[in-house]
Amino acid sequence: MPKVLICGRGGSGKSTLVTMLAKGLAEQGRDKVLVIDSDESNLGLGKMLDIQPPARTVMDSLGGKEAVGKSLMAALRSEGTEEVKMFSGDFTFGDIAADSVSWSGTVGLAQIGKVEHAHEGCACPMGALAREFLNKVRDKKKEWVIVDTEAGVEHFGRGVLEGVDTVLMVVDPSYEAVLLAEKAAKLAKEAEKPFSVILNKVNADTEAQLKEMLKEKGIEVTAVLPFSAQISRANLVGEPLQITESLRQILNELIGGIANANVH
Ligand SMILES: Nc1ncnc2c1ncn2[C@@H]1O[C@H](COP(=O)(O)OP(=O)(O)O)[C@@H](O)[C@H]1O
Ligand SMILES: [Mg+2]
Repeated sequence: MPKVLICGRGGSGKSTLVTMLAKGLAEQGRDKVLVIDSDESNLGLGKMLDIQPPARTVMDSLGGKEAVGKSLMAALRSEGTEEVKMFSGDFTFGDIAADSVSWSGTVGLAQIGKVEHAHEGCACPMGALAREFLNKVRDKKKEWVIVDTEAGVEHFGRGVLEGVDTVLMVVDPSYEAVLLAEKAAKLAKEAEKPFSVILNKVNADTEAQLKEMLKEKGIEVTAVLPFSAQISRANLVGEPLQITESLRQILNELIGGIANANVH
């Protein structure tokens, strides 16, 4: 089953969509889903999912940022290629260190790494690790991987999407989001990855306006998540998100569409 990368600008609703997809899959109860948090500044995803984040990040389980950074530098020096060997080979969900993934029923949460200290330097090792993780994690027939990413298109540059099957971009009602969608569509095309746009936080007016603006740029919209006072409230007070009745059908169609396009 598919590895899905969710991207978008800050605050557009990436973590909300990741959570909704994971919960939608959990409701159907058929497929396992591993949520990968690759956003080093994201703190609230566990709460949205209602999963206590694992004790250690994947980065920590591999010896920490310095060790991963060294392995990255060694790979760059010795082989003259960008390939980084941080895992010995392909691995399955079950091979991930128990303290680096938290499972709640059929939904798991793993975090690539977090910024812990002032002046700790750039997040390149985390980008390289996310790419390596996604390339090597072997998703079986009834398993999904959903990747939450940091804002913007930095992860495109770092090649994080190399190992994923499809890219979903969240577009909220803003000109900035439309410009970013145009850029992300181009980058996804270059990387030969299927690319879809999901509108979020819209009403009838903003939906129509965004669709028109995106159409002018040759981008079609795959799904539309309306503004929801319930989602807004839950995120404000830090409560787990619930799938509302009106969202259920939208999510099921989105999940069905991704599954059909990624039967392997
Ligand atoms: N469909 C929605 N309806 C209402 N508010 C939403 C919706 N989706 C997201 N939000 C709000 O937008 C904010 C950012 O959402 P979040 O998922 O954290 O964005 P990101 O992960 O892209 O930074 C949150 O405060 C959340 O409550
Ligand atoms: Mg987020």
